Amino acid sequence: MVNVKTLVEEFRRRFPHCTPEVIARAPGRVNLIGEHVDYNGGLVMPFAIPLATWVVAGRRDDDRVVAQSLQSKEAVQFDAHQIGKPLIGWGAYVQGVLHELQVRGLPRNGINFLINSDVPSGAGLSSSAALEAAVALAAIELFGPRLTHDEIADACRAAEHDFALVPCGIMDQIASVCSRSDHVMLLNCRNGSFEHIPWPRTNVRITVVDSRSPHKLSTGDYALRVRECELVRSYLKEQANWFVGFREASLSRLAVHGSKIHPTIQLRRARHVITEIARVRDAADALRRGDFPTLGRLMNESHQSLAEDYEVSTPQVDALADCIRKVPGVFGARLTGAGFGGCVVAVAEQSAVNAIESAVRRDYDPHFGVTAPVWTWHPSEGATVQRLDT
Ligand code: GLA
Repeated sequence: MVNVKTLVEEFRRRFPHCTPEVIARAPGRVNLIGEHVDYNGGLVMPFAIPLATWVVAGRRDDDRVVAQSLQSKEAVQFDAHQIGKPLIGWGAYVQGVLHELQVRGLPRNGINFLINSDVPSGAGLSSSAALEAAVALAAIELFGPRLTHDEIADACRAAEHDFALVPCGIMDQIASVCSRSDHVMLLNCRNGSFEHIPWPRTNVRITVVDSRSPHKLSTGDYALRVRECELVRSYLKEQANWFVGFREASLSRLAVHGSKIHPTIQLRRARHVITEIARVRDAADALRRGDFPTLGRLMNESHQSLAEDYEVSTPQVDALADCIRKVPGVFGARLTGAGFGGCVVAVAEQSAVNAIESAVRRDYDPHFGVTAPVWTWHPSEGATVQRLDT
């Protein structure tokens, strides 16, 4: 966990002429189920994790924005009046968020930011949304404008699209900003509405294991999936009078038009999206009744669909999910996040948690030459910001 006092002291050391005025914290997220459906107007079930990005900020006398991170030797600097072309690397997120907030009324003042994070990057735990949300909350707390949580999440997503060039959905940003501790969110990505489903008070735990095969969304595979789904959507919109979005689709409805969808790879993408949305509905019901065997089965099916129809798993992630599923007391395990590497989320009896770690050490690590981090998490609180005593 990031030490707040040390971060504020470090801010004073690095920016001796600037008062640290605010501190914001925004968590990463794990998605329990509902993968690659947010940009298809589907339903998802994320929750915030205890790992988070922290940002201390203070106003400057000039119009420059200066951001430093304890994770990077490079500082980021730009003119608040002329944000310009996206920088390479993490600076693009800071630029993008400030640009999007300026469009929504943030004054073009200079700010110093100092950032620290314990969300690993490239693990599929949404380190980018955590950075975006923490920078956004800190800047807004300093200068306004008053924005709703939805507007903040939307600004962060726009930053990711236009500056980091990842055409992501809205799940990660809403999860980071709006999650509630002890609850999993059921988020409708068509209109941004959500409800919080309490995690039942039982001996069932959520374990997350990082495969240690990092993913990189900007490489184009993610954007390709988004594009493939767009093509199916526009085809169905033209051809099928019932089609509003994938939530109105079913496999039998798809079959009527499917023979004309080419290449067939697009059909498989659509099949994943349609079946995944149905699984999320069932998973939400299962969680409400505390029916973990059903939730676990749906998670396993989700993984299979992501691996076979959506083709975003990897042999390494498949091996990790298999290894975890074999442990007695595990209800289900699946790839979480965009895929192409990253983490597996499992739901298991409390008594199985240690056995999961032993199985990973014995049956997974040696095959891939890694030591996969294993965490057991309870859903955490979404982003927060507070003023510092100055
Ligand atoms: C990434 C994106 C999200 C979502 C997931 C896959 O995390 O940022 O918007 O599409 O992948 O479910």
